[in-house]
Amino acid sequence: MIKKFHIISYGCQMNVYDNEIITSILIRCNLLYVINILDADLIIINTCSIREKAETTVYNKLLYLNSLKKKKKIYIGVVGCMVRRLKFINNLKKNIIDFVLGPDQYRELPYIIKSIENNRYFSNVLLSNEETYSNIFPSKIYNINKVTTYVTITRGCDNMCTFCVVPFTRGRERSKSPKNILNECNKLYEMGYKEVTLLGQNVDSYLWTKETHIKKNIKKEFKQINFSMLLELIATKLPNIRIRFCTSNPHDMSLSVIKIIKKYNNICKYIHLPVQSGSNKILKLMKRKYTRLNYIKLIENIRNIIPECAISYDIITGFCNETEKDHIDTLNLMKYIKYDFGYMFIYSHRKGTYAYNKYKDNVSFDIKKRRLYDIIKLQRKHSKLNLKKYLNTIQHVLIESDSKKNSNYWSGRNSQNLIIIFKKNGEKLGEFVNVKILSYTSATLIGEKIKYY
Ligand code: 5AD
Ligand code: SF4
Repeated sequence: MIKKFHIISYGCQMNVYDNEIITSILIRCNLLYVINILDADLIIINTCSIREKAETTVYNKLLYLNSLKKKKKIYIGVVGCMVRRLKFINNLKKNIIDFVLGPDQYRELPYIIKSIENNRYFSNVLLSNEETYSNIFPSKIYNINKVTTYVTITRGCDNMCTFCVVPFTRGRERSKSPKNILNECNKLYEMGYKEVTLLGQNVDSYLWTKETHIKKNIKKEFKQINFSMLLELIATKLPNIRIRFCTSNPHDMSLSVIKIIKKYNNICKYIHLPVQSGSNKILKLMKRKYTRLNYIKLIENIRNIIPECAISYDIITGFCNETEKDHIDTLNLMKYIKYDFGYMFIYSHRKGTYAYNKYKDNVSFDIKKRRLYDIIKLQRKHSKLNLKKYLNTIQHVLIESDSKKNSNYWSGRNSQNLIIIFKKNGEKLGEFVNVKILSYTSATLIGEKIKYY
């Protein structure tokens, strides 16, 4: 009988949240979560398929689990974004995998546990247009610090960028009700959490439509809550919790969202705004729905309204047909914006995407890699310049953990999402403190706590 489970997780923050949903469901079935994989009789791998490397990692892990399975009776489930790639699964299912489950099917876990105990292989990879797991409170048992956590507000994505598998692996976009989101945030606050990050593939297109009956059955009214309204709602109802959100799509980010970020102290002054490329030609091939100029105007609006706002990006190097000129357009855009930090990726040609079907993956790996390096190098320079600006300033820091390098120091973040290290002196995890910045390394600010400000 299955009694103890362990989850191995890959990929994005959405998977971290889904692990908590899975854990919550399994705990309700009286299963026990174990930290050590060797103690588990059920091992679930929550997969990512955004780039080929993520899939290879999962594949290797499955081979390792297979070696465990030969030594002792264990059950293995594969869940998450990779499961729709059935060819891969079919190759392995007979020997290694006991069940396969898509990201919208986690409610079926209690039934599946029974099914696999009777040696029946189970597979369901259907996507849902409604599932938001809104009535399941995610389990936080492996969140030791209880300082920061995630709250999913939308699932799926309707954007269909040509390079991206997410619309196929996670399905259509749907929003969770504001009431559910508020309840979840409230509960987290009561549990002692100090910061929540609102999650979605594209949070700016959050939309909840509420039907109200003005007079019994006579007149109907539809009230819509968009992302800026949701942000304001959470910021006002929970003034003592710090709010972040991720990810924004430049095409959907409205002026009203920017104004709400400015208006409330408890909304962090940090926006992750993936640009993907600085070339109009490439943006068009990616079907990104904005031009380089639209993007620059959006950044200018953000900086005019919230001058202290930190901005980061995602950039893909070596997308189909990307020439040296397109790459230089990207570098020039970076030079103009001078981002605080960023995430850069080598383009990975994903089966099933529009790009895979219609374009050739015609930039060599060496060129992709060299362009990635150009971007990393430029970003390092900009990050350094940005960190320098903070010297001698006083930053409001939420203490999140011990510093990785030295446990005599705390590590926390300011509103701009920058990591700040300072010497411990009787403070507690989850405390907000003021820190004067005295120096910096390539990605970290170092300071000392000040008592009065
Ligand atoms: N290849 C490389 N990077 C990708 N991303 C999404 N799909 C791909 C792909 N096929 C990147 C994008 C996105 C981030 C989450 O992952 O930059 O914003
Ligand atoms: Fe993928 Fe584009 Fe949706 Fe982001 S917005 S998840 S890149 S399709």
